[in-house]
Amino acid sequence: MIAAPRCDRTEAWSALESLFETSASRFDLREAFAVDPHRFETFSFESAGLFADLSKNLIDGSALALLIDLAHACRIEARRDAMFAGGPINTTENRAVLHTALRAPRGSAPHGEEIHEVLDRMLAYVERVRDAEASGIRHVVNIGIGGSDLGPQIVVPALEAYCQRDLQLHFVSNVDGHDIDTALRGLKPSETLFVIASKTFTTQETMSNARIAREWFLANGGIDTRKHFVATTTNIEAAAEFGIETTFGFWDWVGGRYSLWSAIGLPIALAIGERNFRALLAGAHAMDLHFRETPIERNLPILLGLLDVWYRNFHGLTSRSIAPYHQGLRRLPAYLQQLEMESNGKRVDVDGESLPFATSPVIWGEPGTNGQHAYFQMLHQGTEVIPIEFILERAPAHVHADSHRKLLANGLAQAQALMLGKSADEAIKDTVPTASASIDRGVLARHRTFPGNRPSTTFIIDRLTPQALGSLIAMYEHRVFVSGALWNINSFDQWGVELGKALCNDLLPRFDSGDASGLDGSTAGLLKRLRS
Ligand code: F6P
Repeated sequence: MIAAPRCDRTEAWSALESLFETSASRFDLREAFAVDPHRFETFSFESAGLFADLSKNLIDGSALALLIDLAHACRIEARRDAMFAGGPINTTENRAVLHTALRAPRGSAPHGEEIHEVLDRMLAYVERVRDAEASGIRHVVNIGIGGSDLGPQIVVPALEAYCQRDLQLHFVSNVDGHDIDTALRGLKPSETLFVIASKTFTTQETMSNARIAREWFLANGGIDTRKHFVATTTNIEAAAEFGIETTFGFWDWVGGRYSLWSAIGLPIALAIGERNFRALLAGAHAMDLHFRETPIERNLPILLGLLDVWYRNFHGLTSRSIAPYHQGLRRLPAYLQQLEMESNGKRVDVDGESLPFATSPVIWGEPGTNGQHAYFQMLHQGTEVIPIEFILERAPAHVHADSHRKLLANGLAQAQALMLGKSADEAIKDTVPTASASIDRGVLARHRTFPGNRPSTTFIIDRLTPQALGSLIAMYEHRVFVSGALWNINSFDQWGVELGKALCNDLLPRFDSGDASGLDGSTAGLLKRLRS
C-alpha cells in the first residue's frame, strides 16, 4: 500500500477551500469565455482517439493548478503505478487490481502467460462458433448480472456495425422470470449457445437462470449440453459441478465491473470476432498508456477525476448525467452506474475512518436526443446544477447524413444552452405564440428564463470503432480510480451488496412457510400480502 494522505488533509485542499470561498463559487462560464479567447484550446485534450472539451466546466487556471497540486499531494501517480504493478490495492480483500493487464501486449504486464493462454484459446473457440455452417449456432444467450452482463451489454450494441449478421446476441440478467422467457422465445436448442457468466459462479440470479436455461434446453429436444453451454468464471470447479466442460477462466484480481476485457468478454468476441475484440483491447491499452505516461497537466483521466472531486466536494453537486449521442451507447449510463457507484459509493476511507466529505455522485442518463424530450427540462431550469457529459461521434457508420447533422447539432445546442442560458430581458423580447394571452409578460419571461452557467464536458470520437470504444471505457475506469484514490477509499470492493443478499436468503424460505417471526412490521405485512 502506498502511504498517501487523504485529500482533505492536504494544504492543496485548504487552498481550494479558500479559492472556492473567495471567488471560484461565483465563477461564470460566459465571462470566462469573454475574457479568454483561447479557453477552448486551453481546456481541450486529446488522447488515444478521444477528444475532450473541458472548457465548459466551472474551472479556471487557478482552480486547475490547485487541483493538480492536490493530485501530487495525494500521490496519484505512485498509486496509479502500484495498481499497474499488481500491488494489493484492494486492501479489504487483499487483492491486486489488474484489469489493465488483460489488455496489455504479451510480456508487458503481470500474469501475461495465463492471460494470453485463455485469450488465445477463447478467440480460437470464438472463430469456430462464428462459423455458423459448421457450428450450427445462430443465437448466443449470455446469462450473467452486474459486471458479468453490463460490459457486453454496452459493447455489443455500440459495435453493431461490426457484428456478425447471422449470430444474434441475447442477454439475460434479471432473476425476474420475464427476462429469460423473453430471451428464449422463438429460440431452438440446436442453434443456441448459452454463456453462463459469473466471476463467483454462486450469484443467485445467474445460477437460477442457468438452471432454467438447462431445463429449457433439455425439455425442448436439446441433446448435447456440453456443446451448448459454456462458462466464463474464476470458479472452474463450480462450473464443472454444474456440468459445463468448456470454461474460460479469469482471476480474482479482475473486479466484476472491470471484467469485460477478460473471458467475460466472450459474448463480445462472439459478436464482433477475434480481430475486432483484439482492437477493443488495444484501444483500452492505448488509454492505459496515456494514463501511465502523460503528465498530470494533460492526463485526461486524472483531470476528469480532479474535476469530479471539485464538483462533488466544493460545488456540492450530487449527480452527473451521461448523454451519449449515439443509440448504440444506450446502456453506457447503466454501465457507468455500476463502474462509478459500486466503486466509489463508500463512506469510510481505507483505514476504516468515517469520511467527512461526500463521495460517489449519482450517475444517470439516456442517449440523446431522447433525454432532451424527457428530463433535460430539469437540467436547464431545475434548482440543481448537474454536470452533463455529451459523447459525440464525428463520422457515423450509417448513411443518413442529414439525421447525423441533426443529432450533432442537438448535442452542441444543448451544451450551448446550458452554458449561455437566457436572461429575463432576453426572454421578454421573444414572441411566444403558445403562451397564454392573459399572462403578464414579466411573469411569462420569468418562466422562460434560463440561468445558464451549467457545466458540461463534450467528448468527440471520430468513429465508434472497437479501438475507440476500448479507449473510452478505459478512460472512465481510470477516472473512477483517480477520484477514489483522492478520497482514499477502496474503489475495488463492494461490501454494500452483502446485507441485502443475506436478508434475501432469510426471506426466501418464509415465502413457503409464511413465518414472519422476527421481521419488522412493514416487511411482515408485505410478505403476508404477497403470499395471499
Ligand atoms: O453483487 C454485486 C456483484 O458482486 C458485482 O460486483 C458483480 O459484478 C455481480 O455481483 C455479479 O457477480 P458474479 O460475476 O460473481 O456473478
